[in-house]
Amino acid sequence: MCIICSINMKVLLVNGSPHKEGCTYIALSEVAKTLDSCGIETEIFHIGNAPVAGCIGCGQCKQKGTCFRDDVVNAFAAKTATADAFVFGSPVHFASATGSITAFMDRVFMLPSAQMAYKPAASVVSCRRGGATASFDQLNKYFTIRCMPVISSNYWNMVHGSCAADVAKDEEGLQTMRVLGRNMAWILKCIEAGRQNGINRPEPEQKIYTNYIR
Ligand SMILES: Cc1cc2nc3c(=O)[nH]c(=O)nc-3n(C[C@H](O)[C@H](O)[C@H](O)COP(=O)(O)O)c2cc1C
Repeated sequence: MCIICSINMKVLLVNGSPHKEGCTYIALSEVAKTLDSCGIETEIFHIGNAPVAGCIGCGQCKQKGTCFRDDVVNAFAAKTATADAFVFGSPVHFASATGSITAFMDRVFMLPSAQMAYKPAASVVSCRRGGATASFDQLNKYFTIRCMPVISSNYWNMVHGSCAADVAKDEEGLQTMRVLGRNMAWILKCIEAGRQNGINRPEPEQKIYTNYIR
């Protein structure tokens, strides 16, 4: 519990790596430890190693609320209502986020049942050497189409290494994660302080969809 707001807040961190306790996990754990030290509860959600299918654009989730494929995507979506903020982590695979986290996020961000709008979010990436900023940009695009305030750090959120032990030695990367955690805790407390003083989420407008020709 946050001693300033006396309220329970929770951040859900997603590990999109096939390695449950690899490089991405070390980065997410550093964010989580920092949030914990600020009185904010955390949970690291591993998307696992089972293949994650991509979105087939069937639109069934618009009617049902959940995805017709009852897998890790629906399991994650069920946790979003009680989360106040999110961190999505991915290793870099060929200068992009992994196929699994991309498929996962494509489907999560289509779901009406995923309660994420207006909640702060951040992405973190881990790579051996190259492709980190491209992957970081890719992940941030999900938040910026869903009215989610993006939390930053004192560098782009990346760590470097081929294994967890390498990342444990990446002092700058780990500092980036700690600063990110503190910044996220600060924004969460500001949002809560605002809410307690009558500053609520903006009223959404009915979304306008055009395809540029009509
Ligand atoms: C299929 C595959 C592709 C990869 N592509 C890149 C890459 O483009 N750039 C890079 O720096 N590292 C690349 N790597 C290495 C991982 O991104 C890196 O070791 C990462 O920190 C592993 O994180 P993890 O332990 O959480 O899976 C690749 C690894 C795999 C398995």
